[in-house]
Amino acid sequence: IRIAVLISGNGSNLQAILDACQAGEINGEVVAVVSNKADVYGLTRAEEAGVPALVVAPQAGESREDYDARLDAELSQLNVDLVVLAGFMRILSEGFVNRFAGRMLNIHPSLLPKYTGLNTHQRALDAGDEEHGCSVHFVTPELDGGPVILQAKVPVFEGDDADDLAERVHTQEHRIYPLVVKWFAQGRLTMTDGKALFNGEVL
Ligand code: GRF
Repeated sequence: IRIAVLISGNGSNLQAILDACQAGEINGEVVAVVSNKADVYGLTRAEEAGVPALVVAPQAGESREDYDARLDAELSQLNVDLVVLAGFMRILSEGFVNRFAGRMLNIHPSLLPKYTGLNTHQRALDAGDEEHGCSVHFVTPELDGGPVILQAKVPVFEGDDADDLAERVHTQEHRIYPLVVKWFAQGRLTMTDGKALFNGEVL
């Protein structure tokens, strides 16, 4: 399958997916890495992997719909089967999301439905949670609200700060995201009626 990965930053999840494709774990190819920001390290990772890297930067005064239409045009031209959001820090319009329904994944650094949005690690600490983690889900128009495919848990230790937790969660992200992309490439993952299915069974 043809995969586009959308990023805004460091791209460590992108790297995990590139590595899994390279190793033959994922039966697919990252055909483009798209960033909404120039000069982020994820773009360098793409170049080093020999993958086309492009920046689609928002223009002054541009509406969300117009930006998303430009993004859509790029992805359509590439004949993308799967859109992987990997630290892409923009909210996508309903039209865009619906166009890629069942073909767009996101990873979120919390045990959804807990802590949608930002600052998840600090929020887990503030709540006194004993466990935290990350979730891979299909993207629906509701922010971080689509059906969950796979989660990984990590313990919260006394004295942890948000950076400690982020690092522990990242290690798990790099394990579960390539795995879910692998399943998708095998045709085992679908979204029907807002539910995620694995081999046809509701998750
Ligand atoms: C990850 O923590 C992911 O869960 C969140 O953004 C971060 C991206 O990290 N959506 P990276 O750019 O993949 O290193």
